[in-house]
Amino acid sequence: MAKNVSLDQLGLKYNTDKASLFTHNNTTVKGHDYLKYYELFLKELKKEKFTMVELGCFTGASLKMWKEYYPKADIVGVDLNPNLKKLEEDRIHFICSDAVASDLPAKLKEFNNIKCIIDDCSHAWGDQRRSFEMLFPILNGGGYYIIEDLECGAMGAYPSYPPKVLDAQVFWDYAADRMKILRVSENRNQINYRPFFNQLPEHIQNIELSIDMAFLVPGSIIFRKK
Ligand SMILES: C[S@@+](CC[C@H](N)C(=O)[O-])C[C@H]1O[C@@H](n2cnc3c(N)ncnc32)[C@H](O)[C@@H]1O
Repeated sequence: MAKNVSLDQLGLKYNTDKASLFTHNNTTVKGHDYLKYYELFLKELKKEKFTMVELGCFTGASLKMWKEYYPKADIVGVDLNPNLKKLEEDRIHFICSDAVASDLPAKLKEFNNIKCIIDDCSHAWGDQRRSFEMLFPILNGGGYYIIEDLECGAMGAYPSYPPKVLDAQVFWDYAADRMKILRVSENRNQINYRPFFNQLPEHIQNIELSIDMAFLVPGSIIFRKK
């Protein structure tokens, strides 16, 4: 990759809808424009040897973008569609799985130093939450977990990919709960709030205690792990 090429320029090159523009059926439209925000954080991983996981592959556009942006990283695409195994090439791996399958964390264990996970699949709030609760624990410290297209709703984005987990809580409210309760539970002066934290299941308490920050942008949320 030439020096000083931005992540958005690579998104445009490979035509992922994460970029500022996106071409579909010969028409160029505004893209989600997430990459200018992601680059604020994700550029710090550029020199690192790590594993990036993306849930939802479609044409493979974003997998190819990540491969070029991160010259030392392994890129793992996860998708329901078994035909997408054809996307495999040097440093691009494919796992055919539902993003909410309970054996997915074990399948990902064979990859070292997972530093970034991006959820870009069904976009159903319940699925986003299930995947986050399963996969945030296997993210390495200092890593990022990103959830896209938060506006899609309880039924997700695509009639052909109905939600596997029904949940009416919009993911950014769920994320705000994680941050609120963490803040007060760490503050000994506000001991009255501790029972709310204590009544949560242990794996959710552990997630809350390991969130370093959440950064909300239009349509997407970026978590960093402590
Ligand atoms: C928006 S596309 C991914 C686009 C790609 N990340 C990019 O930026 O170029 C959504 C993909 O999610 C996959 N998908 C939908 N529901 C899924 C689920 N529950 N588990 C895994 N993959 C799913 C679909 O097969 C489709 O390929």
